[in-house]
Amino acid sequence: MYARQSIDASDIEAIVQSLKGEFITRGPKVKEFEESLSKYCDAQYAVVMNSGSTALEACYFAADAGPADRLITTPNTFIATISRGVDRGMTPVFIDIDRNNGSFSLEQLEYNLDFQSTRGREFIVPVHFAGIAIDMKRLSDSLKNPNSVVIEDAAHALGSLYPSGEKVGSCAYSDMTILSFHPAKTITTAEGGAVLTNDPVLYEKLISFRNNGIKRKSHWEYDCEALTGNYHFTEMQGALGVSQMKRLPEFIKKRRALVKRYRELFKDFDGIKLFTDAQDDYTAFHLMVIQIDSEKYSFDRTELIEKLKQKDVGTQYHYIPLYRHSVLKKRFGDLEEYFPEMEKYYKEALSLPLYYDLELKDVDRIVETLKLILR
Ligand SMILES: Cc1ncc(COP(=O)(O)O)c(C=O)c1O
Repeated sequence: MYARQSIDASDIEAIVQSLKGEFITRGPKVKEFEESLSKYCDAQYAVVMNSGSTALEACYFAADAGPADRLITTPNTFIATISRGVDRGMTPVFIDIDRNNGSFSLEQLEYNLDFQSTRGREFIVPVHFAGIAIDMKRLSDSLKNPNSVVIEDAAHALGSLYPSGEKVGSCAYSDMTILSFHPAKTITTAEGGAVLTNDPVLYEKLISFRNNGIKRKSHWEYDCEALTGNYHFTEMQGALGVSQMKRLPEFIKKRRALVKRYRELFKDFDGIKLFTDAQDDYTAFHLMVIQIDSEKYSFDRTELIEKLKQKDVGTQYHYIPLYRHSVLKKRFGDLEEYFPEMEKYYKEALSLPLYYDLELKDVDRIVETLKLILR
């Protein structure tokens, strides 16, 4: 396993109690979890949904994304970042990555924003890869068009701060921010996600999206203003979310300590590149990514993953460049040559274990095992 949830007795007790309440879905625990998220992130509103993927879909719905619009994002992300935007007819525009943090390069983004389209809006969708927050102030300052929409994919980054000091999720420089509570993430509700926003109009649309596009008029009377679906959160998930939020500071502390240990152990190991440490005190780490110099070590990733697995070290790779997936290749052709940094990363990166129940001595063993295999 490279990632796993931490569920303790307090989490289990919270779920058990939620089942004894009057409501087992759409009730007070859901509300309480939303309040704890918006309070923690310094945002006005939080709307929880059944997954982070749904939260992204909700954002494209709320901002009324359409075929005239461009979706500007990183190729180094999970497909859900773009799926429902592209499905609504948007044109994806990928920006090559910065191998110091795995997110899109702000220089490349700024260069791209100089070319304004004469139709539609631009949606900028930064992904705070591995938990390291992008400099959103700089991103926001580089926008040329007041109609631009900014949606942050913070699936990896609950608990992180921007370099300018605000909380990820505060939407200080964006219209909406999404979170994911998949078990690999910093907190979990089994499945689950949320959208944060400070905009009351977007908030109403997100609420309606979650509930089949319904606007309620009285106890029995309602009108459907859009065709969406049912994306509600249950009370069990809400209760688990509230309980996990109480543990969040302890989760962040442990993840930082583990990353610190990895850094110490890799310090003198030639040919392994780690992400920048400049934001370590501001980061709730989600992934521990290494990049193995392919000129120094000739390795086959599948083989390396298998050898590590035999030694009980679980790893994963994040992410196959989006433009390499067949669904996009069929529509947009071969794009590899335009993304030299992403392609290099694709060859060299590997995510090592990082989760709350991992111990410092496990990190020692993992690094020692990797060193032996590479040598
Ligand atoms: C960057 C990113 N965006 C979106 C998602 C989607 O979240 P979920 O798995 O909760 O649907 C994930 C989760 O894997 C992710 O890593």
